[in-house]
Amino acid sequence: MAGVTERTQVGIIGAGPGGLLLARLLKVHGVESVILEARTRDYVEGRIRAGVLEQGTVDLLEEAGVAERLHREGLVHDGVEIAAGGRRFRIDFRELTGKTVTVYGQTEVTKDLIAARLAGDGPIVWEAADVVPQDIEGDRPSLRYTVGGEERTLACDFVAGCDGFHGVSRTCLPAAASRTYERVYPFGWLGILADVPPCSEELIYARHEDGFALASMRSRTRSRYYLQCSLDDDVSNWSDDRIWAELKRRFGPQVAPHIVTGPSIEKSIAPLRSFVSTPMQHGRLFLAGDAAHIVPPTGAKGLNLAASDVHYLCRALVAHYRKADPSLLAAYGETALARVWKAERFSWWMTGMLHRFHDEASFEAQMQRAEIDYLAGSRAAQLSLAENYVGLPF
Ligand code: APR
Ligand code: PHB
Repeated sequence: MAGVTERTQVGIIGAGPGGLLLARLLKVHGVESVILEARTRDYVEGRIRAGVLEQGTVDLLEEAGVAERLHREGLVHDGVEIAAGGRRFRIDFRELTGKTVTVYGQTEVTKDLIAARLAGDGPIVWEAADVVPQDIEGDRPSLRYTVGGEERTLACDFVAGCDGFHGVSRTCLPAAASRTYERVYPFGWLGILADVPPCSEELIYARHEDGFALASMRSRTRSRYYLQCSLDDDVSNWSDDRIWAELKRRFGPQVAPHIVTGPSIEKSIAPLRSFVSTPMQHGRLFLAGDAAHIVPPTGAKGLNLAASDVHYLCRALVAHYRKADPSLLAAYGETALARVWKAERFSWWMTGMLHRFHDEASFEAQMQRAEIDYLAGSRAAQLSLAENYVGLPF
């Protein structure tokens, strides 16, 4: 093995929420790990991402001992609103399911997990370049990487690929045994962050003939909005004034008067895709989070799916180390995928119902309007949305 060799129990690739939460939960259960992260701490802590946590994710963050600021600053939401066809209606999660969601930025979750890690849990190797998993089919895998120009090798028992959609882990699965499922949507989301009070106490998802819009927030003084836009659009085409005017148009006359405008702190366009790569494990390599699957953000599932994968993987690794029980590790991919596919379905369904795909005079657009009309008037339909939005059981 080239260079300096270190050793740990679990080698984790990626210091996003998935890798960080896995490292923290393993530590709580007495299992050591090392995290190799390609970027700098500032870069990782500066990423703007979604911000809706399922109850199960909040419970995991409590188990990880990093929920103190979340409970202090997070906003508990009992429901969401849907605005379409000139009307708005509310879906009451608490009344329908007894559960809630918590609005707390993924950026903050990441900062809380990094702080806990650096308080003594173990190392995060920042700017770890050219990470290459080795011997994952044997019982002595390792991670080769370079940092500061020095080649190193991390010997470990298991490798957790928490390196996101563009990471290296998924490429280590043998092509013959792998299968991917993908849907790339024919539009993007233009997101804007601004220090203005939210237009509503809760999130509002809007379907408009010119496209989807979403009113979200990071706190009572910081708002996050999204607009459906074309894939070949460019954020330079969207002045703040144009964004605010389009948001008011799409949310309609009942909401528009409550939209407080102000200068954007950040604005960007992101594509939407549904993606799943199977299997989620090979030999001693286990994928978790965006490394294995992507959801369109309409259902706010990305972070929450990383959390449930991590829950299953941590439980399986602890069973191996504490009880010499290999069964949960052997079943990890199948167990995680069972929940992943249901979240993929929900995210695809929410996206299909609320975005403009076709001409408004088309049969498909009429089906969208009927779907929303049914949702507005059916407790059964609202319960279905609610139980998926607050999070299906782990
Ligand atoms: N080597 C080391 N680190 C890597 C590599 C690599 N080859 N490739 C990627 N990384 C790092 C990235 O820099 C990032 O910090 O892995 C981390 C992956 O984090 P995420 O992409 O956030 O993925 P995950 O932890 O699964 O969290 C999923 O994050 O991106 C959002 O929408 C997504 O909400 C979802 C959540
Ligand atoms: C966000 O606040 O960024 C957010 C909220 C709900 C979504 C997507 C994004 O469905």
